[in-house]
Amino acid sequence: MQRLIPTLRADNVPLELIMLIRTILAASKEIAFRVNQGALSGVLGSTLDENIQGETQKKLDVLSNQLLKDMLLSSPDVRAIASEEEDDVVKGQDGAPYIVAFDPLDGSSNIDINGQIGTIFTIYPARDDVAADSPLQFSQPGKNQVCAGYVLYGPSTLLVMTTGGPTRQYTLDRTHGGYLLTKAELSIPAQTSEFSINMSNFHRWDQPIKDYISELQAGTEGSRERQFNMRWNGAMVGDVHRILSRGGIFLYPANTDEPTKPGKLRLLYEANPMAMLVEQADGLASTGTDRILDIQPSELHQRVPVITGSKEEVDYLLKTL
Ligand code: AHG
Ligand code: MN
Ligand code: MN
Ligand code: MN
Repeated sequence: MQRLIPTLRADNVPLELIMLIRTILAASKEIAFRVNQGALSGVLGSTLDENIQGETQKKLDVLSNQLLKDMLLSSPDVRAIASEEEDDVVKGQDGAPYIVAFDPLDGSSNIDINGQIGTIFTIYPARDDVAADSPLQFSQPGKNQVCAGYVLYGPSTLLVMTTGGPTRQYTLDRTHGGYLLTKAELSIPAQTSEFSINMSNFHRWDQPIKDYISELQAGTEGSRERQFNMRWNGAMVGDVHRILSRGGIFLYPANTDEPTKPGKLRLLYEANPMAMLVEQADGLASTGTDRILDIQPSELHQRVPVITGSKEEVDYLLKTL
């Protein structure tokens, strides 16, 4: 099986970008080790702090953020970083070629139940027209991403990543400590009979989303005339991974009772990297009105509605909206 670095070289990924990806993955291996040790490494449970999103931080949110932050800020290739767990942009090296944004630990509510969790990351070219620590560094549409990926800490530790070509899947081989290419090209089936949404929010959605989900629930009795299955992980990494593996549609729509929050998921370090991974694997990613990768961000921790997955299913829904 091919190792990661030769795969990236064969894809003509620039050397500095390869070095940067290695740095992110070095941090991911540290996180994977602690996740695997669980209670034995003292990483379970909560802190007393809140992040800028108003969420109580878990110990593993803080630890994962610190590991990524420390390693990235000592890299010569990073001009600035942004994280779900950092209020503001953090400055790296002046003149460095890239900026990195990350969700250090996705699926925080799964930590203490030994469920699926992951790390999501994205790399953009640094902007020379604004200061290194300006939030405007990250005010770039997702289509500017030069690399997007996630590490899923599941039964196996998996890396799913694209550098603009195919979305590839690697498995962490603990016998030698590196990621090996285990699926050279992921391709999401265009059709699906599986949906993924937090049904407990049904009463809070706009009517067209309610109507769509109701049709899926009607099974053979409804206009779709077939049985649909539902899965919800509570971790976007797990749900999007399932969709990249066997198809499906994932939705996190806006809740109408929270008009200031257009959805729960964050554009920079959740929606955009996942949208790039899905599009490079033949799927679609939209807010319902716009292609996610075309959105011009307005703030660092901006939230967006997310509808992503199998092409024909996403298309079907978008036509009804
Ligand atoms: P995070 O743990 O990084 O804060 O992200 C959680 C997100 C995402 O992973 C998931 O799809 C969603 O929140 C789950 O939301 P519900 O609480 O509605 O299940
Ligand atoms: Mn969080
Ligand atoms: Mn998240
Ligand atoms: Mn998180």
